[in-house]
Amino acid sequence: MTTKRTSRAAAKSVPSLHPHVLVLHGPNLNLLGSREPVHYGLATLDDINRALVGRGKAAGAQVETFQHNHEGALIDRVHQAAHDHVDFIVINPAGYTHTSVALRDALAATAIPFVEIHLSNIYAREAFRHHSYFSDLAVGVVSGLGAHGYELALEYALHHLQNRTPHGSQKTEKAH
Ligand code: DQA
Repeated sequence: MTTKRTSRAAAKSVPSLHPHVLVLHGPNLNLLGSREPVHYGLATLDDINRALVGRGKAAGAQVETFQHNHEGALIDRVHQAAHDHVDFIVINPAGYTHTSVALRDALAATAIPFVEIHLSNIYAREAFRHHSYFSDLAVGVVSGLGAHGYELALEYALHHLQNRTPHGSQKTEKAH
């Protein structure tokens, strides 16, 4: 007899037909559009999210977005992502990039692959922004390409998920 438990476990090991991508935005990113445009541009968070959700739909993927100014809420959302079987995370940890061991630990605990993204080039700014608690765990980092960087990160996520084998491992990719 197939119990609920085994069928759920099986569902987890087989990649879903519709990849599920979570885009997480850290503190102060709700102010995009008016916040220091010289660093972060003029696109609002709504503009960015709308473009990502639309791109996801066109590719047959579910793209969810979440912004919060509190560390604990972001950590809870990462835990929830594991529960929801999210396949990939795109995260701009914003100021927490440079401070949050706890958010890093949440991503490490769930082991969901993620791309770290920054609108500005953090390496061309103040020295305290040069260190990230996330980069060594990330699949990759996009920094300095403005709102376009989110689109590139999502394209990568979709490409990465399309290249999964039925068992969830990655097909061998050509260097690009
Ligand atoms: C940021 C860069 C961080 O240093 C900063 O604290 C942010 C935004 C970026 O997107 O460029 O809030 O992550």
